[in-house]
Amino acid sequence: MSALYPNLGDSRITPIWQPQPGPQTDLVTCPVFEVFYGGARGGGKTEASIGDWFLHSGQWGERAAGLFVRRKLTQLSDAIKRFRRYGAKIGAKWHEQKKELTMPNGAVLKFAYLERDEDAEEYQGHEYTRIYVEEVTNFPFPDPIMKLKGSCRSSAGIPCGIRLTGNPGGPGHHWVKARYIDPAPKGYLVIEQLEKIEIEDGVFVESIIDRVFIPAKLKDNKELLRNDPGYVQRLRETGSAALVKAWLEGDWDGVDGTFFSEFSEEKHVLRGVLQLPPHWTKFRAMDWGSAAPFSVGWYAVSDGEILAPRGALIKYAEWYGWNGQPNKGLKMSADSVARGIINREKDMKQRLSYGVADPSIFSNNGGPSIAEMMLIAGCGWIRGDNARQAGWEQMRKRLAADEPLLLFHESCEHTIRTLPYLQHDDKNPEDLDTDAEDHAVDETRYAVMSRPTLRDKPKVSETDLTKARAMPTINELLAGSIKARQMEEQRY
Ligand SMILES: Nc1ncnc2c1ncn2[C@@H]1O[C@H](COP(=O)(O)OP(=O)(O)OP(=O)(O)O)[C@@H](O)[C@H]1O
Ligand SMILES: [Mg+2]
Repeated sequence: MSALYPNLGDSRITPIWQPQPGPQTDLVTCPVFEVFYGGARGGGKTEASIGDWFLHSGQWGERAAGLFVRRKLTQLSDAIKRFRRYGAKIGAKWHEQKKELTMPNGAVLKFAYLERDEDAEEYQGHEYTRIYVEEVTNFPFPDPIMKLKGSCRSSAGIPCGIRLTGNPGGPGHHWVKARYIDPAPKGYLVIEQLEKIEIEDGVFVESIIDRVFIPAKLKDNKELLRNDPGYVQRLRETGSAALVKAWLEGDWDGVDGTFFSEFSEEKHVLRGVLQLPPHWTKFRAMDWGSAAPFSVGWYAVSDGEILAPRGALIKYAEWYGWNGQPNKGLKMSADSVARGIINREKDMKQRLSYGVADPSIFSNNGGPSIAEMMLIAGCGWIRGDNARQAGWEQMRKRLAADEPLLLFHESCEHTIRTLPYLQHDDKNPEDLDTDAEDHAVDETRYAVMSRPTLRDKPKVSETDLTKARAMPTINELLAGSIKARQMEEQRY
């Protein structure tokens, strides 16, 4: 059955809902365990998840159990409204307190939000035959979703699946792109992977998981284009060319809303072997991390003769302490990181002028600070300037200059991987969203702030200029005061 009928299955009557031809039909008939249906805004993604649940529950009855998830509770309300509207037509019952929709045949769909990653633990040990995650790019990291996968199983042997939807952009853009789009940008290629699935807290099973990307295109949502022809026009007026392209075509390669929109690989990444003149100033910077990654970068300051303008910073090497999973650190001790740095520097054979680090390494909570431990191991640091907004401003100016004043060698792969996808913070647009993987750019910020050479000319308004012109010059003032003194003297 691939349409929803008022009495769940009687195809003699006009269906209440049916998938549109193309990706919506592909989604509701897809046998693959993990499906990411994503791309264009208004492509029909939410509608496809809604329809999929009605079809799945209609087929499997009370043995079907669903979980519909978003990042925030407030974001769930639109989907709940739509589920309830369709549900009412077939006699489904809504339970407000439990946030559950019970179908007439007994199947239950639960709605939940995972504001914090730990919230996913609450659903471990449960059994869901279908899990829907909406706007998956709102999740900065895949961890909670990977946890949920452990609950996607059926002891009754019902085919289970997780269905994710989302648009380009957002704090999770990068991992979503890497997991679903990069392996097959045009989609429809099933990828099989051996994965460890956490079925309860700390209990793992190994399993072959297949996943597939189904691209959502606005042109496939004929219902919307027919009923609301002004939608495309409105989208066009909403944002920059890159953002509109991303929304209309589901383009994952260049999205707006990124914190460093000035950055591009063509302009800021140096390729090939770098010959750094020995007389250039060189230094290193560090953002400390243990459970989260640490980032160490090595920088050279150009004298303007080759490669970059005078004063430009070239990040020529990096050491990113991650365990291979986004935002997960190596949990290395301070002295072994210090030894790692010293060993790398021996290989690089560059004389460094100083090292600048995240100021938190200087705090000692009862014992020696990280800075002290690293110093004992032979690696010294000066305290970095942690003025965040000023630091971002400095980085932006350096990136935005016609001839960039901040460049990265291609070997700095984690800086190049993470920097383009960092997003503005929802609540404070002057800052970036610190939930995302920001360690390499934090470290770059400390480096840049150790050489804040760029200053704008102070802005002078026309009124200030008029006032200034009306004011006596220094000579006039002097002449005036001499005359005043002479007059004073003549009085006595
Ligand atoms: N199968 C369908 N039957 C009827 N209408 C549909 C169908 N699919 C999509 N639509 C119409 O298209 C509109 C947009 O679809 P939907 O909300 O699913 O898009 P979306 O991709 O989730 O959008 P967004 O990116 O904004 O979340 C719906 O409100 C609905 O009117
Ligand atoms: Mg939607």
